[in-house]
Amino acid sequence: MTFDLKAQDPQSKARAGVMTTDHGKIETPIFMPVGTVGSVKGVHQRELKEDINPDIILGNTYHLYLRPQTKILEKAGGLHKFINWDRNILTDSGGYQVYSLSSNRKIKEEGVKFKSHIDGSYHVFTPENVMEIQRSIGADIIMAFDECTPYPCDYHYAKRSMHMTHRWLERCLTHLDKTPFMYDYSQSFFPIVQGSTYKDLRKQSAEYIAGVGAEGNAIGGLSVGEPAEEMYAMTEVVTDILPWEKPRYLMGVGTPINILENIALGVDMFDCVMPTRNARNGMLFTAYGSINIKNKKWEDDFSPIDEMGITFVDTEYSKAYLRHLFSVNELLGKQIATIHNLGFYLWLVREARKHILAGDFKVWKDMMVKQMDNRL
Ligand code: GUN
Repeated sequence: MTFDLKAQDPQSKARAGVMTTDHGKIETPIFMPVGTVGSVKGVHQRELKEDINPDIILGNTYHLYLRPQTKILEKAGGLHKFINWDRNILTDSGGYQVYSLSSNRKIKEEGVKFKSHIDGSYHVFTPENVMEIQRSIGADIIMAFDECTPYPCDYHYAKRSMHMTHRWLERCLTHLDKTPFMYDYSQSFFPIVQGSTYKDLRKQSAEYIAGVGAEGNAIGGLSVGEPAEEMYAMTEVVTDILPWEKPRYLMGVGTPINILENIALGVDMFDCVMPTRNARNGMLFTAYGSINIKNKKWEDDFSPIDEMGITFVDTEYSKAYLRHLFSVNELLGKQIATIHNLGFYLWLVREARKHILAGDFKVWKDMMVKQMDNRL
């Protein structure tokens, strides 16, 4: 993988770059739609490619390991072939899902024993087997196995956990060295900074992670319930330490405003379930704020969903019709809302990129943050 930085905003730490892997280019800043089980929920591949058009999507090791299982993915020739997606994929390591989804999980130095949220069966994730699973899935970017600490988190727990995440990282690296690529393209490995909301731990973790010399670096353990200001403070500590010339990925973030503020702090990559999950609950994001399309006020509003929207749904359907689809619980409503929200998130990061290249990102960002902080 290569990463070429094209521009930096003169008034913030925002950067515009291009990552290139064997599955093509990724223009940054980028938002990666979440395709947990090998599908971006409710979106056909054609709509994803032609209307939303992201350079990269995300899959989850935890889910894909449980279903369809690696033996099927290997038989298919990897996740790209299985889902017919010839652009980039990144897989999260399970280091978050195992804590948020499974019950009865036991975290030990060796790894995490957990109970499947699907059938209650017991499984173990270790740094070693998670690297093997990610080889079988075959994403272009694979993530270290870490512990994502909750918020709030006791200082001593956060410190112990961070050190364990660092030891797990060494085990990931050692095992990756012994585990060749499974398909005819390469994979890049990103380690993850932890340290909860403690500046000294974040600094220590970022220095450790930077020392590994990976192709890109991630920031985890944020957007877990802490106030936005604390998140930004942690991002800033970390981006000041992580190598300038490598991409930075802030995991699980966030709202449109969170994304712009973190771009200003030097983050290049984002993922979040928010645009897809909230869409299924009737929440639409726009440049002028969010909309709850289920509200009665939209009942007879026959204007387009979003006049400025980049996807076909934005102008082909009205707010009143979309509200109706939600009130009768029609599947199509969730699909339309999902396409709209992903189109909006991708538009937002592309606009950010344009403004970084033009040198006026900070001014644009401040204006957008004010404009989007609104419920329509
Ligand atoms: N997704 C959101 N936050 C995290 C994190 O801290 N670790 C991992 N592995 N995934 C995440």
